[in-house]
Amino acid sequence: MAHPSSYEPNTGIERWIDARLPVPRLMHDQFLAFPTPRNLNYWWTFGGILTFMLAAQIATGVVLAMHYVPSEHGAFDSVEKIMRDVNWGWLLRYSHAVGASMFFVAVYIHTFRGLYYGSYKAPREVLWILGVLILLLMIATAFMGYSLVWGQMSFWAVTVITNLFSSLDSVVPGLGTRLVQWIWGGFSVGGPTLNRLYSLHYLFPFIIAGVVVLHIWALHIPGNNNPTGIDVKTARDTVPFHPYYTIKDGFALVGFIFLFAAVVFYAPNYLGHPDNYVPANPLQTPPHIVPEWYFLPFYAILRAIPNKLLGVIALLSSISVLFFVPWLDTSRVRSTSYRPIYKWFFWAFAVTCVALGYLGSQQPEGVYLVLGRIFTVYYFAFFLLVMPIVGLIEKPRGLPGSITEPVLGPEEVAAPPAPAARKVPLKRKPAEVA
Ligand code: HEM
Repeated sequence: MAHPSSYEPNTGIERWIDARLPVPRLMHDQFLAFPTPRNLNYWWTFGGILTFMLAAQIATGVVLAMHYVPSEHGAFDSVEKIMRDVNWGWLLRYSHAVGASMFFVAVYIHTFRGLYYGSYKAPREVLWILGVLILLLMIATAFMGYSLVWGQMSFWAVTVITNLFSSLDSVVPGLGTRLVQWIWGGFSVGGPTLNRLYSLHYLFPFIIAGVVVLHIWALHIPGNNNPTGIDVKTARDTVPFHPYYTIKDGFALVGFIFLFAAVVFYAPNYLGHPDNYVPANPLQTPPHIVPEWYFLPFYAILRAIPNKLLGVIALLSSISVLFFVPWLDTSRVRSTSYRPIYKWFFWAFAVTCVALGYLGSQQPEGVYLVLGRIFTVYYFAFFLLVMPIVGLIEKPRGLPGSITEPVLGPEEVAAPPAPAARKVPLKRKPAEVA
């Protein structure tokens, strides 16, 4: 939210910097004094958690890279060396591998929060689109990272996914095959493939970090949405980001780190596949190739379609449809809390995503295949039919008069604002404390 700067440099050096490169002013205005709706719930803490997870993945990844060997014959052994011989290597590797899973837990919650509260609606479309771009980059990064272990699942996941490009052969004969060989750097997945995946896996997190900066910039132009979905009307609807949300975000982050640590220390391999502890063997295909859990819903969609090219198109569309959500949803109100009909469809969609996740882990045959197809149809119907149609026919519940009203009650809203309650000094003077 564009708001006048309240930064006051106190010392000579602060004034000197402020006149030349006012980074302290930027940080103060955007992260301390930033006016934030007073009613944000804990679902709004996941942006901060994601920022922490990105930093944690980069920090652990950079140190892992100091010991990792990106070659066909050295990769698997170097990971085992990290686990056994490198000081604290086991902790670094488990933190990075489990960290990827926790990152996806957080990003899925963050995305569903945005979907539920209509945070993609005007004027936050660009913010949302940048989020979807981040999601795509995260998917690519996690896929490439998984390949680096060069275990059986790594190798065969790369083989299956890169082979999807060969479906282009049915459009232009030979095009798909040439593209796949170009990606592989040879006639099969091998050393050159691993090398380029490693290079890109190191690069992408920094691109993600750049897009996150744009994402937060795009957030700070309109300001946060909130659980009611209604706009900020007066200064009373907001509180400064610090101390209110630094404390709340910090508290949620500590809780999240406890959960993260519990998995790292007590069940670090729970979310992984045992076959990835078997070195890659191009001559032996595992009986059941499955991706990491966070890709399973998309994998189920891919396999629900009998035609390879159409399956790939469905897979890509299942994520890219998110780009169009700001225009697909025709509702006048943002928050699903005030949408009595859409709410049911929304939760059915959430169940669909979980069901697709389960089905993605099963063999695509019999009842699993039938259910996979039914849920795939609903997945797309939710975006392409429910969002546009329900928004037009539904009568939303009455919205509160302001953000403050449900928090403080109508009497308090009608009362003239108490000046002391509105202005929260960042640094209290001794007289005020007394
Ligand atoms: C590395 C991944 C990401 C990071 C670090 C990140 C960071 C943040 C932060 C710090 C906020 C403000 C706090 C909050 O509202 O929780 C935010 C808000 C938001 N993010 Fe993200 N984000 C990421 C991914 C995504 C994705 C994948 C989407 C959607 C597809 C998304 C959509 C949004 C939206 C719509 C908001 C505004 C929420 C509101 O005010 O209601 N973000 N993000």
